[in-house]
Amino acid sequence: MNHQLLKGKRGIIFGALNESSIAWEVALKAQNEGAVFTLTNSPIALRFGKINELASACNAMVIPADVTSIKDIKILLEKSVTILGGKIDFILHSIGMSRNVIKKRAYTNLNYDDFMQAIDISALSLHKLLQTALELDVIEEYGSVVTLTYIGAQRVFTTYGDMSQAKAMLESIVRSFGYHYGIRKKVRINSISQSPTITTAGKGIEGFDSFYHFAEKMSPLGNANARQCAEYCITLFSDYTKMVTMQNLFHDGGFSSTGISYEVLKRYRPEIDE
Ligand code: NAI
Repeated sequence: MNHQLLKGKRGIIFGALNESSIAWEVALKAQNEGAVFTLTNSPIALRFGKINELASACNAMVIPADVTSIKDIKILLEKSVTILGGKIDFILHSIGMSRNVIKKRAYTNLNYDDFMQAIDISALSLHKLLQTALELDVIEEYGSVVTLTYIGAQRVFTTYGDMSQAKAMLESIVRSFGYHYGIRKKVRINSISQSPTITTAGKGIEGFDSFYHFAEKMSPLGNANARQCAEYCITLFSDYTKMVTMQNLFHDGGFSSTGISYEVLKRYRPEIDE
């Protein structure tokens, strides 16, 4: 499939660590749809990840940026405009990290320095990015910013820990900044609430396999994978969604609207008919 939906568009893609990253699929798809873009990740991820492989496949430059650093973000935005030859049409913010989750700390026994870091990396970074972009005025009119979130922002998933608060804040920033950026520059900002997806960040969550299989059985269409998420991102970057902003958009095969599915019910009542 190739519709050149992003022909002539310039972008920045955050968060491609390896081939399982959602951002990796977005980069491949964006290139396929005609976009040019820069790739970025934290200096440590550049050292241990595989972003250079992706960069050569996409003919993209890699610019390091720790997303908690306003200085790094500023350099990234300025360099991207220079390299790509004009203002930015789309940005993918595909970043999340919590040491409390990685260390599998109980929600009732969190380390607060790690909690603050999780908020900074996973939520506040979107505000820092948008505020810096607005100050520098580097996003085109009707440009599109997409971030990735999880339904753990609205519901309790026991082992999702402090990422629940980070994602709730992230979604709130989408609405608040979406208003202000919309008024000032007609830039749109949305979050995609994605199904559990087998990636480095996903696998860091205690019991992820069970999350994944439960969601698969609950969702009428099954779990959405990274490639399908990338396809959805492309539509949001394209000119076909110009009036969509400040939304949290579920991309989860119907999970978020399902109370209980037959498949799950059958685990408790095997004799039940569909
Ligand atoms: P991933 O581990 O491939 O991507 C996370 C990225 O965040 C990595 O590239 C990592 O280097 C980057 N990152 C961490 N700290 C950073 C920093 N200080 N500066 C710059 N970059 C930093 O995993 P995945 O799953 O592709 O995650 C992407 C997004 O999707 C995250 O926001 C995640 O919460 C979200 N998401 C993932 C789901 C899943 O089940 N995998 C489900 C729903 C949402």
